[in-house]
Amino acid sequence: MDLEKAYVLQNYGRYPLLLLRGEGAYVWDDRGRQYLDFIAGIGVNGFGHAHPRIVKVIQEQAALMIHCSNLYYNPYQGILAKRLASISGLQRTFFANTGTEAMEGAIKMMRSHGRAISPAKHEIVSLENSFHGRSTGALTLTGQPKYRKDFEPLLPGVKYVPKQDIAALEAAVNENTAGIVLEVVQGEGGIYLIDEAFLRKARSLADKFNALLVFDEIQCGVGRVGKYFAYQMYDPAVMPDVMVTAKPIGSGLPLGVICSNEKASVTIGAGMHGTTFGGGPLACRVGIESLDLLEELLPSIREMGAYFKEQLRKLASRHRMVKDVRGTGLMLGMELDRPGKDLVTDAMNEGLLINCTNNTVLRFLPPFIIRKKDVDRAVKVLDKVLKRAA
Ligand SMILES: Cc1ncc(COP(=O)(O)O)c(C=O)c1O
Repeated sequence: MDLEKAYVLQNYGRYPLLLLRGEGAYVWDDRGRQYLDFIAGIGVNGFGHAHPRIVKVIQEQAALMIHCSNLYYNPYQGILAKRLASISGLQRTFFANTGTEAMEGAIKMMRSHGRAISPAKHEIVSLENSFHGRSTGALTLTGQPKYRKDFEPLLPGVKYVPKQDIAALEAAVNENTAGIVLEVVQGEGGIYLIDEAFLRKARSLADKFNALLVFDEIQCGVGRVGKYFAYQMYDPAVMPDVMVTAKPIGSGLPLGVICSNEKASVTIGAGMHGTTFGGGPLACRVGIESLDLLEELLPSIREMGAYFKEQLRKLASRHRMVKDVRGTGLMLGMELDRPGKDLVTDAMNEGLLINCTNNTVLRFLPPFIIRKKDVDRAVKVLDKVLKRAA
């Protein structure tokens, strides 16, 4: 911790916890204390820690080849891309390394799509309260001024509309719109589901004005809500042209993806985009194994999510400081009438890892492998922590 303070850029507000190892839904610190991990590396460790099947493919593939660049083929990109096409309904994949990098690629798709029609068609419509990443392009789309203010001016031509406000969306989209971007479930903004009527309107406006509809499923995708992707909770008519995702697909290895239909795929021709690391054999092989695991776990994610939400609702009925319980699947939030940071620290001291987002929302992104007894244990800690805070 002292070395971090002396030598690492001081951009994170870390909790004073040094983690050494994990197994399943549990992690252990340097003092040997055990914690139930209900934040899972901010939604990354979907299959928990040290899953034997993930460990096995990493060990095997690391001994064969970790990286060979995109100058050559590797055996796993094509297989993973085909798998993603079959589960997403979007034909082509670009492999990146992080969520933000996937989002940047999607921005280039929107820009290239618009530019091919007219130089004025470069505007992007995003939502207020959204989060799309920290690079300058993705940051521009992030509809929270606190993240942007120190770096302005950013990308020109981005408009923000309040979530669920159909009239504002209609007013913002026009023939100069190259794309509309939204998280189907806003994560960082405090766990808000965007409803079907709004998504339908976004789809129909994108069609009307020939703009690309882009869904950011970096946090809500890859099983988190109990479907492969969150847009699959709704009518099949609300298909995006582009979907970006990351987090659990790499099981902790850096892997971000852009899935796109033919209309969006043609915007990126030879030499127009690329990455050195993205789509390496190790990350892609782990991605295939992750999706195999996910297929088996989807029903359990729905069942555990419903059970956990019911228990959180019961807590809400007993603790007046809880204003709302939101979310679906294993992407849940509990809004408090006060900042949640101290409760997160208290829960940590009681052996439960969670986090707080948007100041007042306790956020739960547990691994997909949790059982009822894990939920019961987490709820018991939350009950204690809420009581103490009152
Ligand atoms: C919805 C959403 N978009 C983008 C990002 C950025 O992804 P990454 O941190 O992998 O670059 C995140 C990260 O939390 C996210 O939740």
